[in-house]
Amino acid sequence: MREPQVTPIPGLPERVSIYEVGARDGLQNESEVVPVEVKAELVRRLVASGLRAVELTSFVHPRWVPQLADAEQLLDLLGPLSTGELAGVRAPVLVPNARGLERALARDVPELAVFVSATESFARKNLNASRDEALAMSGQVVEGALAAGRSVRGYVSMCFGDPWEGDVDAAAVVDVVLALREQGCHEISLGDTIGVATPGQVVRLLDGLAAAGVPREALAVHFHDTYGQALSNTLIALQQGITTVDSSAGGLGGCPFAMSATGNLATEDLVWQLHGLGIETGVDLPKLVATSVWLAGLMGRPSPSNAVRALG
Ligand code: HMG
Ligand code: MG
Repeated sequence: MREPQVTPIPGLPERVSIYEVGARDGLQNESEVVPVEVKAELVRRLVASGLRAVELTSFVHPRWVPQLADAEQLLDLLGPLSTGELAGVRAPVLVPNARGLERALARDVPELAVFVSATESFARKNLNASRDEALAMSGQVVEGALAAGRSVRGYVSMCFGDPWEGDVDAAAVVDVVLALREQGCHEISLGDTIGVATPGQVVRLLDGLAAAGVPREALAVHFHDTYGQALSNTLIALQQGITTVDSSAGGLGGCPFAMSATGNLATEDLVWQLHGLGIETGVDLPKLVATSVWLAGLMGRPSPSNAVRALG
């Protein structure tokens, strides 16, 4: 399989941690429900292709996200996360509230992820709560998870634009990031849920977060590719010192509660760029492409990833 020519540019990290969200953010948005055995096989194949952080599923309400109603069954198929076949891999599950926490604590789930919108409108659409109520929900989850010896990632969604409110003020995002850090989240992922950001906005937000005392190492970026900006936004974030990037194998994804949200940045497109820049990821690109080709075949439609279409 063709590989990118390696041509580094100064000022970029030597290594980037890819946080794979296809099994959760990707599959939550597919109209057909993928069988749980296929999900388990997808997770195994993602890990076998070298990914070391793979978000598995969500403990959200099954009526809200029927695509992930099999969360418990998936975990049963994968076995205990801290000692089984996924030991050593970050394998978080998304949890919205106390009921989700209860479900997660009933399993061997070492890491949870909470999510809060920077905007009021999306908080209501996504969690049926105001922004403050959503922060109270995440606070409850983080407190219970930390007390049980688990760790928690936080997501802030609608960091750059909101389908109902339009532009989003960077100060509103900084507030939510600070609140999630205060609650005890060890990493905060900045979500461009509807994929509208351009690089200047990314720099402005990262500058605002630095001014508020948030270290770059505590941040990740989560770009959706609606307007084709995800890779540009990622590169500028790397230049600003970010080293954790969320992406989705084959470019699966979107968000069922945010109109006009399309798939996440495709992991293969990201890996092509990072390897071309001489940045280590630990990912075996041919194996990952084969996984996305396999999944696209099962789903009966081509992958939206450019790299998968070029290499597959
Ligand atoms: P609600 O209807 O307000 O729930 O939904 P409620 O608290 O009023 O409870 C109603 C019933 O649901 C109760 O049962 C609860 O027990 C049950 P009853 O007493 O009537 O029999 N219930 C649950 N059952 C299972 N699991 C649960 C749960 N919670 C309550 N966790 C709720 C509130 C939070 C549940 C709902 O709004 C929800 O599930 N939302 C999730 C939406 C979602 O998954 N969105 C996509 C993920 S976010 C995203 O994609 C963005 C991200 O990728 C970053 C980015 O791109 O920016 C992360
Ligand atoms: Mg997302």
